[in-house]
Amino acid sequence: MNNRPRLTVIGTGYLGATHAICMAVMGFEVVGVDVDPGKVAKLNSGEVPFFEPGLPELLTKALETGRLRFTADFADAGAFGDVHFICVGTPQQRDSPAADLTYVDAAVTSLARHLTRRALVVGKSTVPVGTAARLAELIRSIAPAGDQVELAWNPEFLREGFAVDDTMKPDRMVFGVTSAWAEEQLRSAFQPVLAQGVPVKVTDLQTAELVKVAANSFLATKISYINAMAEICEVTGADVHDLAEALAYDERIGGKFLRPGLGFGGGCLPKDIRAFTHRAEELGVGQAVGFLREIDGINRRRRARTVDLVVELCGGDVAGKKVAALGAAFKPNSDDIRDAPALDVAATLAGMGAQVVVYDPAAMDNAKKQYPQLGYGESALATAQDADVVVLLTEWTEFREIDPDTMGAVTAQRRIVDGRHALDAARWRGAGWEYRALGRP
Ligand code: UGA
Repeated sequence: MNNRPRLTVIGTGYLGATHAICMAVMGFEVVGVDVDPGKVAKLNSGEVPFFEPGLPELLTKALETGRLRFTADFADAGAFGDVHFICVGTPQQRDSPAADLTYVDAAVTSLARHLTRRALVVGKSTVPVGTAARLAELIRSIAPAGDQVELAWNPEFLREGFAVDDTMKPDRMVFGVTSAWAEEQLRSAFQPVLAQGVPVKVTDLQTAELVKVAANSFLATKISYINAMAEICEVTGADVHDLAEALAYDERIGGKFLRPGLGFGGGCLPKDIRAFTHRAEELGVGQAVGFLREIDGINRRRRARTVDLVVELCGGDVAGKKVAALGAAFKPNSDDIRDAPALDVAATLAGMGAQVVVYDPAAMDNAKKQYPQLGYGESALATAQDADVVVLLTEWTEFREIDPDTMGAVTAQRRIVDGRHALDAARWRGAGWEYRALGRP
């Protein structure tokens, strides 16, 4: 245990907090750093500031070992750590498709000032290709230890909702390095993970940066592909649900990320494909990923089309109609509402004059803050009370398990739009519901 490097994790959001907690549980001494003193205090007192299944229990466990603490002090982190992970966000810029690197630059700068001995800085954030090379220069110019500080890139592939499993036992690890020493440091820092036989791909910095955006672009493309097929199904009377199942039997295609519906949202896929397109254009190879604009376009159309279905079910006008919106988070098992398709649809309907009431098992607080114009219910059933139409927007298990008769007893009309293909159409229709789903007759 003694030859294990001491770790710091800069940025304690979904990615960083999970990484810090899991590494401490796996036996490392870890200091988590965040510029938000509120977050630091919460984490130190054993409270995870966001919803992630399994993480609160692990935080308690990690704090009990005495190996984990959180601070807002970069000097503390610089003095403590041998390997420093950068886990801050890279959201989309307000007025451009490009990634906003303010937080990455600030984190690296604040840390580098306090690096007075040999250390490895490891980027985990999703960044435009070429960022790592720039940051390596920046660190060298700022750090008192100069050339003694190296930079590596270790993209993170964790999914919200499965963050603990994805961190403890990832499908693969990518180590973007420029020296054998950096690779050795990373191997030590991930020894318990690698001991489980997790494959490692060692690359240069730019390949490591690209793996991440290439993976997310591929996933987005797969989702939009099946949703494009849904558009064709809609005008031909074919059933995209059956189509997807039939495609999935081909092992070369596979069924994962081939679920049709309202499409992708969240803090990653949408902004990553936009930033990638923008970066490729800067590099003069925009044509190579020009199709990602179409992927984005297909994805946006799903939201508009879901709104259309609700309007159609209401007889062509939603003004004054009561719409029960089930779901706010961008996907189940998360309280994350960044670019959430559910809230986009709910807000659009409200903008058309509908009286929209939203319910989500985890994302209510976040939704209320960002969408104060919407109504909010106490439960799925309470939300559906007197509804003219119910629209399922996030496929939480508790929504899948709703009994159509129980819900039908409280609504004004038995009309439902299944935005996520989460319900058994025959069962709902059998209970007298007018059931509509994108790409299904
Ligand atoms: C995604 C990637 O899956 C992770 O590998 C990556 O690490 C992460 O982004 C990131 O860049 O940090 P995440 O955003 O947590 O993870 O969510 P996903 O599970 O990928 O789902 C993204 C969206 O696609 C959700 O809105 C989901 O509802 C939608 N989706 C997913 C579909 O519409 N259809 C599908 O078949 C699958």
